[in-house]
Amino acid sequence: MIVLASRNGRIGLAAAVDVMARGGSAVDGVEAGTRVVERNPDDPTVGLGGLPNILGEVRLDAAIMDGNTLRGGAVGSVRRHVHAITLARRLMERGPHVFLVADGAERLARDLGFVEEEPLTEQATAAWNRRLQERFPGLDTRRMAERDDLMAVVDELQLSMAGWDEMKREGHSESTAHGTVNFLARDRDGNLATAVSTSGWAWGYPGRLGDSPVLGAGSYADNRWAAAASTGTGEVVLRVSTARSIVLYMKMGMDLGRAVREAMIDLRALDDPLVDHIAVIAMNRDGEHVGFSYREDERYVYMTDTMSEPAEVNMVSP
Ligand code: GLY
Repeated sequence: MIVLASRNGRIGLAAAVDVMARGGSAVDGVEAGTRVVERNPDDPTVGLGGLPNILGEVRLDAAIMDGNTLRGGAVGSVRRHVHAITLARRLMERGPHVFLVADGAERLARDLGFVEEEPLTEQATAAWNRRLQERFPGLDTRRMAERDDLMAVVDELQLSMAGWDEMKREGHSESTAHGTVNFLARDRDGNLATAVSTSGWAWGYPGRLGDSPVLGAGSYADNRWAAAASTGTGEVVLRVSTARSIVLYMKMGMDLGRAVREAMIDLRALDDPLVDHIAVIAMNRDGEHVGFSYREDERYVYMTDTMSEPAEVNMVSP
């Protein structure tokens, strides 16, 4: 058995492997690993600690897929629940719907007995305030909801890197703004599964969804071929359905490395600078894995039941 994750998933690998070593499925593994990351207040891209949108609200997105049954569940723009991945899993198992957003997803959480919990930390609120104040000195951040130029504010924050200096000093990378956690697993029975969870584009427009909750774009698992998932600015991944493309390229005869490279080339063909933020990890049905990234010095992590520590692997530039 093996579990792969984006680098920020390192802290969840042992939990994922442990649950699978005790007889859990690949789906159990990816959910367990993701929950550890969602609970980490120091990860500004996921769950508790996730950075807010332009209104100062944290809204979480997640998707999970079972490569054995090709069933999936996804939730987007969810408030007041830290474990979006568990809500996505419960939706996958409950059906009939596959994807719920905002009020509907929150309502399902209530109906299923989830206890509400605000993911917005003081640290994230301070970072939100600071970044807005640095770019727009004197701005009344309490009145953001009343503005009619919010998209222009989002544009300005995206275009300028002002405000990032302090975050970089605090140890965040540029990808903090569009970060995500991915888990891919292969269990003892050869089943593949994927899980993705994110707080989305920091300081993004209200209602914005990226690739993470969209099955086929930000993640996909099919036991017959592969599992794949992406991190980075979902706007470009949504336009070329990266994760499902990898599976299809393999079905058409490519090996894993070639399939991922081809999907990365599809992204580059968009001729969009947002592609520079994208990284992809993937695993074939035999558990062989690769990572490709347009970001420099990017790594992913993995762990098996015979390892006492996760291993880090350098991603390849396409
Ligand atoms: N991949 C994370 C996002 O675009 O929201």
